[in-house]
Amino acid sequence: MQAELNLTLNVGRPAACTIVMARGAVQNLAEIITSPPSRRAIWVADATVQAAVGNVVDTALRRVFGTVDVITIERGERAKTLAGFGFLIEELERLRADRRTTIFAVGGGSTTDAVGFAASSYLRGIPYVCLPTTLTAQVDAAIGGKVAVNTTAAKNAVGAFYHPSHVIIDPALLPVQLEIPDRDGLAEITKVATISDGALFARLESLPTGGHPAPRVLDELISRAVMAKLALLTKDPFEAELDRLLNFGHETAHALEKALGHGIRHGPAVAIGIAAATRISVDRRLLGEAEGRRVGNLLGRLALPVSIDIDKAAEQRFADALRQVMLVRAGSLRVVLPTRIGHGVIAPAVTIEELTTSIRGVVR
Ligand SMILES: NC(=O)c1ccc[n+]([C@@H]2O[C@H](COP(=O)([O-])OP(=O)(O)OC[C@H]3O[C@@H](n4cnc5c(N)ncnc54)[C@H](O)[C@@H]3O)[C@@H](O)[C@H]2O)c1
Repeated sequence: MQAELNLTLNVGRPAACTIVMARGAVQNLAEIITSPPSRRAIWVADATVQAAVGNVVDTALRRVFGTVDVITIERGERAKTLAGFGFLIEELERLRADRRTTIFAVGGGSTTDAVGFAASSYLRGIPYVCLPTTLTAQVDAAIGGKVAVNTTAAKNAVGAFYHPSHVIIDPALLPVQLEIPDRDGLAEITKVATISDGALFARLESLPTGGHPAPRVLDELISRAVMAKLALLTKDPFEAELDRLLNFGHETAHALEKALGHGIRHGPAVAIGIAAATRISVDRRLLGEAEGRRVGNLLGRLALPVSIDIDKAAEQRFADALRQVMLVRAGSLRVVLPTRIGHGVIAPAVTIEELTTSIRGVVR
């Protein structure tokens, strides 16, 4: 072929994403954001997060930026809607944000997802920084550049891959104690440990049953979980493989969340998904029984559920949601199964019946 043009453009935007994890990082913002594009910052957070960490964040921003404004959004998933997206865009317009304004997403995964998506499209893309304040957001949602809002039909239905310029992980911003729902982040750490980092799994096993990890231990867990996620992401940054290992536990979790609506949080749903996939793996003799027990015991130790009883109607909705997943994956339900602690495979042809039975805590 004689091409008139044959160019490869480097279209990565932003060109780089800096991830800093340090207790007290926010207090030292000037050392991290060394050359802001202008003296203007806008931070976005819900009322709870503002009450919890607003003073610390606002004071830190004012040390670096001349003008600091705040946008108050709704809590949790309520911010992560098309209406929430519209509100954010209009607020950015009202405050005359431009491409040189730095936007800070301060909050849990719903906030970093929603603000990241608004930043990806406002003025065709403006820079933003993530200051995650939940464990789920620190180890998972703020890492990887996946941003989205929900529609009434589906979670994360409208979104983009758009990395923040910085992810500043400061465990001092987490709720004082890892109470529910923030313990949910431990489910995401268990996910990444089970399928890709056996040493991290063993470290989790050394935590006190149902207790709160000491700050030093928590910091270590966060750093290790972020590194484990990044190692898996480097191989598939744009999710070319819909069924990548990072979906471990999530095939079931998303279907359960859809079947039960707001009746279950993401963290417990992921824990049940991890336990269900583990049972199937043991049943198929892909994973030894002793290792299977280790996964169940760890979830129990972290005070996370390993099974759920749902009624017939919910079971039908669960099956329907799984069928939708099957459509996306060209007719085959492919589920990530652990093969030994720290390793997993994407197993083809897992049946809806297998998953429906295994979420109850039994197999076949
Ligand atoms: N983009 C990704 O790769 C990715 C990965 C995992 C999860 N997610 C998304 O993240 C969302 C879940 O995130 P989440 O678990 O962080 O919950 P969330 O963001 O939905 O809600 C967090 C709740 O905790 C409160 N909160 C946050 N920080 C607090 C603090 N320091 N002190 C007191 N309260 C605080 C908030 O007010 C809010 O009510 C889901 O929408 C999920 O889809 C995205």
